[in-house]
Amino acid sequence: MKNTRPFKGASQKRVFQTVDIGSGKAEWLIKQKQRFGDRRYLAVDPEYRQNQELMRRLKAHGLETFAGRMQGLIRKLKETKQKTRHINIDMPSYSIEKNAMNFIMGGKKHWAIKDEYGFHILFKELPKILLPNGKVFVTSENSSMLDLIEEIAHDHGFPSRRLRGFDGPIQAKRTAFMKAHQGQTIHSIEITFGLKKALPNKAQRKNWVKE
Ligand SMILES: C[S@@+](CC[C@H](N)C(=O)[O-])C[C@H]1O[C@@H](n2cnc3c(N)ncnc32)[C@H](O)[C@@H]1O
Repeated sequence: MKNTRPFKGASQKRVFQTVDIGSGKAEWLIKQKQRFGDRRYLAVDPEYRQNQELMRRLKAHGLETFAGRMQGLIRKLKETKQKTRHINIDMPSYSIEKNAMNFIMGGKKHWAIKDEYGFHILFKELPKILLPNGKVFVTSENSSMLDLIEEIAHDHGFPSRRLRGFDGPIQAKRTAFMKAHQGQTIHSIEITFGLKKALPNKAQRKNWVKE
């Protein structure tokens, strides 16, 4: 029998409002925590391993921290059965690039991606770590990298859209790091884990209650 309550057990305590990957000083997350004190926010960055002082500061602001990379985080969330409403990703842009070698498989053109950050893994595992109706926001100064990430998301059945530069909510996320790179346009995409994908069964959707 199909599990009609796939998120049973994911109590409020286990749910993060936002997991911020590549969060650095986590300025935006700190502001969110100040506004919504009872929500859980997780700052993720391998840099915290070397910078214990920064990690302590973030904890003092009420944030939770994960000193590691995106792939380790996905494993950890799965192991501890924790989920998040939203994911923000702001990582360097040089690591993901289309391999020049396109290849044909099963009559369809494919391309290989050098994907050391593990975006394939992220989208494969997304249903296990993101709540239905949750969103993934990816920000980068490299627009073509976002094209690739959108392609990976689409391969896994997640729709996406481009957000406009620094309009609206994106403007509020402008961090000191971004301000220091004033000349560069920062691009953003929004990837959605829609209710129909999360709960393909109509009856499941009817019974679904927002966590
Ligand atoms: C462009 S900085 C952005 C920092 C912060 N979001 C800001 O705007 O101030 C990118 C951050 O991604 C982190 N990073 C690099 N590789 C990562 C990975 N695989 N997983 C998570 N974070 C990573 C870096 O340590 C760095 O702090």
